[in-house]
Amino acid sequence: MSTQKQRGFGIDIGGSGIKGAPVDLEKGRFAEERTRIATPQPATPEAVAEVVKEILDHYGWDGPFGCTFPAVVQHGVTRTAANVDDSWIDCDAAKLLRKVTGREAVLVNDADAAGVAEVEYGAAGPDAGVVLVTTLGTGIGSALVVRGTLVPNTEFGHIEVDGHDGESRAADSARDREELSWEEWGERLTRYYRTLENLVWPDLIVVGGGVSKKFDRWSEHVHIRTPITPAKLLNEAGIVGAALLAHRA
Ligand code: BGC
Repeated sequence: MSTQKQRGFGIDIGGSGIKGAPVDLEKGRFAEERTRIATPQPATPEAVAEVVKEILDHYGWDGPFGCTFPAVVQHGVTRTAANVDDSWIDCDAAKLLRKVTGREAVLVNDADAAGVAEVEYGAAGPDAGVVLVTTLGTGIGSALVVRGTLVPNTEFGHIEVDGHDGESRAADSARDREELSWEEWGERLTRYYRTLENLVWPDLIVVGGGVSKKFDRWSEHVHIRTPITPAKLLNEAGIVGAALLAHRA
């Protein structure tokens, strides 16, 4: 049984929901069922920080916590806002989270957090070489991991593919919005990943995000040279990775 010592806490700030759970750091999975609260609108940093506090209070968690954010995060400062409120640009969000919650906070890009979790518990360990972790959701997140070391904020969701912002046509939200079949979406992913593999030449591509659960339905339609595999932690990876980073800090 896990002791309190081997526990961490992770929170995932998303455009539609804010989710959090205590994490078993030995096993790399949730230690209790996660909680989800709808993201307040407008999703200003202050309003979101209040929800983060509510989730921590709900579990009675007083220790340091890790928090993912769907944009560039440099040293606790959020730099971009592709799918979130513009008021996050250049916000010292880690500082704000500390102030509002009264706990130590580590803030990290959502895909980078997933990458860290896949290194520790999943498919991106040091033996895997150069691994590209991508999360397919509202946008496309990326984490580049080189022999177990993360290169943060790669932002490969925004590479140009056929004259478009990559994620605008290949994210899972594009599949939904345009009502694409698995096969049609597979063609989009093929274009996206072929462009990316020619830039990075990874040894392995790991796919996270909610749709990684349905990997078998669409992966047969993705024709690329690099081996591709679903994230071992599926869509728990962000929360688990954030909790691990906060624990290490
Ligand atoms: C953002 C990334 C983020 C990804 C997934 C992109 O639009 O630019 O920072 O990791 O969405 O949420």
